[in-house]
Amino acid sequence: MGFNNDVVNNVLKEFEIDKDSMLRIAGLFKETMEAGLKGEKTCLKMLPSYIGKPTGKEHGVFMTMDMGGTNLRCTKFRIKDGNFEKLAEIKEKLINKEKDFDLTKSNTDASQLFGYMAECMAGITEPGESMYLGNTFSFPCRQEGINEAYLIHWTKEITTSGVEGQNINKLLADALKAKNINIEPVAILNDTVGTLLVAMYSYQDADIGSIMGTGHNTCYLENNHPINGGKMIVNLESGNYNVGLPVTKYDEIIDKNSQMPGLQLLEKMVSGYYMGSIVKEVCKDLYNQKLLFANDDTDTNTFFNQNFNALMVENFILYPSQTTEHYNCTMVDAELIKSISEAVLKRTVRLVATSHLGILFHQENDGTRVKNKHIIAIDGTIYEKMPKAPKLMEEAFADALGQDAENIGIRLVKDGSGLGAAIAAAVATTQK
Ligand code: GLC
Repeated sequence: MGFNNDVVNNVLKEFEIDKDSMLRIAGLFKETMEAGLKGEKTCLKMLPSYIGKPTGKEHGVFMTMDMGGTNLRCTKFRIKDGNFEKLAEIKEKLINKEKDFDLTKSNTDASQLFGYMAECMAGITEPGESMYLGNTFSFPCRQEGINEAYLIHWTKEITTSGVEGQNINKLLADALKAKNINIEPVAILNDTVGTLLVAMYSYQDADIGSIMGTGHNTCYLENNHPINGGKMIVNLESGNYNVGLPVTKYDEIIDKNSQMPGLQLLEKMVSGYYMGSIVKEVCKDLYNQKLLFANDDTDTNTFFNQNFNALMVENFILYPSQTTEHYNCTMVDAELIKSISEAVLKRTVRLVATSHLGILFHQENDGTRVKNKHIIAIDGTIYEKMPKAPKLMEEAFADALGQDAENIGIRLVKDGSGLGAAIAAAVATTQK
């Protein structure tokens, strides 16, 4: 919707990504990933997973651990005849105000974090039971084998000490041993890889896995990986992509105020952790220019003195009348906040689609066409819950590719980080 003010309309315009920009950035993305694949140091880490395509015949009972940005979850799964059965699950917050702990900050160390994970697993392990474990650890790791991955650096604003540089499954194995829990880690993987593994069970053409949640990242199936000369899933750590992006002054503020300025630029522009902050910065700017909340009765203190999360952005879009009630602002203000939120969400989806396009162009070995079938598996609250996100994604591909967009299927694939870890553990134990 257009507003009766050029400044406002220009601000909203800054978040638009047109077809030409999509194709230009996708081309740069393709070049960057191909350089990274050759071993050049680029913003795309191109981390090998040491996992290819599962056979579909994996089976057994496995424990899984999943540490994302906000939760920690352990689940026991049975895999049999291509089906998955959830046998038990415990989910805990990494930050628990009631229990007065925060495992995400630097005053907590590795032994506390991994000890806590071990305790959670003990909660769903029967006496005398022993199991193999797949660990979904959703942070950039230098992977040396299916069970050996060293945390390069934290992302998603986590700063727990003593973990960076460490072999994650060794830390977990030590914590389990210390508590006499008979669970042996055998696989470690990124959540994107888990999502793709699960999708591969259902869709023959699945070859891209992506997370649009607290963080953002994508992996894909490389058909000709330099390490094994064959198929290997590669974790791009695409949240760190930074070439040719249309960075606004608001993105610059978010980056400057973050734990790691200069890193994870794409993630800061598109992921749930930062999305609310972008909306807030735009609102602040328009407020300072007297273009938002010009009415003195508005409760601007309540509005600005809170952390804007992705859920708030969703609510701004869906329920503008609630915005008027909560902050005592006018409907025009609420509609403007809604438009800002929609613009930020639309940019998120189009930038993510652009990065997928870069991968597709690489897979197709073509800079403009996508002639073969591909399934992109996506998990995460932004794609799942945000108003119209799937539709915006389809539109983005149709806009960029025309007819060829019909070759791309996008599927919401849930629980890749749980099930995917069980599949990875099964793959690892059959490789043993
Ligand atoms: C962050 C992490 C990445 C993860 C993504 C989604 O970008 O660095 O490893 O896949 O968040 O959870």
